[in-house]
Amino acid sequence: MSNRLVTGGRADDDVQYEAGLRPRSLAEYIGQDRIRDNLSVSIAAARGRDEAVDHVLLYGPPGLGKTTLAYVIGHEMGVAVRATAGPVIEKSGDLAAMLTNLQRHEILFIDEIHRLPPTIEEILYPAMEDYELDIVIGQGPGARSVKVPLQQFTLIGATTRAGLLTSPLRARFGIVHRLDFYEERDIDEIVRRSAGILGVTIDEEARHDVARRSRGTPRIANRLLRRVRDYAQVRADGHVTAGVARAALELLEVDDRGFDEVDRKLLRTIIDKFSGGPVGVNSLAAAIHEEKDAIEDIYEPFLIQAGFLDRTPRGRVATARAYEYFGLPAPGRDSRLW
Ligand SMILES: Nc1ncnc2c1ncn2[C@@H]1O[C@H](COP(=O)(O)OP(=O)(O)OP(=O)(O)O)[C@@H](O)[C@H]1O
Ligand SMILES: [Mg+2]
Repeated sequence: MSNRLVTGGRADDDVQYEAGLRPRSLAEYIGQDRIRDNLSVSIAAARGRDEAVDHVLLYGPPGLGKTTLAYVIGHEMGVAVRATAGPVIEKSGDLAAMLTNLQRHEILFIDEIHRLPPTIEEILYPAMEDYELDIVIGQGPGARSVKVPLQQFTLIGATTRAGLLTSPLRARFGIVHRLDFYEERDIDEIVRRSAGILGVTIDEEARHDVARRSRGTPRIANRLLRRVRDYAQVRADGHVTAGVARAALELLEVDDRGFDEVDRKLLRTIIDKFSGGPVGVNSLAAAIHEEKDAIEDIYEPFLIQAGFLDRTPRGRVATARAYEYFGLPAPGRDSRLW
């Protein structure tokens, strides 16, 4: 999965670039206007009252800027962000230590928060609600519970799977935002900004081409830009013209829609093997040899948003647009089933 070029998930070589390309302030953060507006109000209000920002849950497909936003909030509040991740916290003591170390108004960022073990998650409940830790001392009949006060802090949780969050945890977030795929013009702006930072000169048409193939995902846009830059350096004079971009993207086998082989296989399988659907996600996963989670988290959201796939109560359905994409006649029924 990580070697897939147009996946929103983070590949190894993204890491070294992401720090430099990551917007630091709300003003630098491009797109997601509604979320940005809402957050700027929440932040200004918290600052005005001299309080910590309410706990924030950010969810949505990989590579759309959840981690970035967590640090932006820290920057705007002028506080440190302490970062960890659900699967990393193994003992309740680990989380208790992080919580007690937080200074006033600081941020604890928990990535992949849906993967917190349940016993550890429970520690968060009183911490989030009352800024308090409940610690049990001793065992058996002599055990007693002690309350340890915490500083007022902000928990920011990020997840690609909001559906997997338990309801008590979810209910404790005062601010919940779902990040959606970016508009093409926002991605275009992101490519322009990143090109500036990386020192790549790129023509307008080439920039549009990169943006169009980036699946509305900033991480993919930045990755394609880097690959196009490599191509321009090796096969041309370093400057990215429209022709250079097109040749580079064709070599990378990213098509005009930003679809790659897996997308095409997924759609084609629904059409050919399951008569266009509906097909359950488990059968689909088995047929294309991919993980069910990967289909639900990574491939499917973009195909649905782009109008090539529908998720119905009875399963996944290829839309008329998907047939058209392959140059096939659409089946003689309403492909959306309703
Ligand atoms: N709004 C934005 N404007 C400009 N660049 C952005 C924006 N959002 C994200 N990026 C770029 O995309 C990269 C990936 O974003 P980020 O790591 O925040 O995604 P994520 O949602 O946390 O992904 P994951 O689910 O994999 O953790 C960032 O390093 C940054 O360069
Ligand atoms: Mg992240």
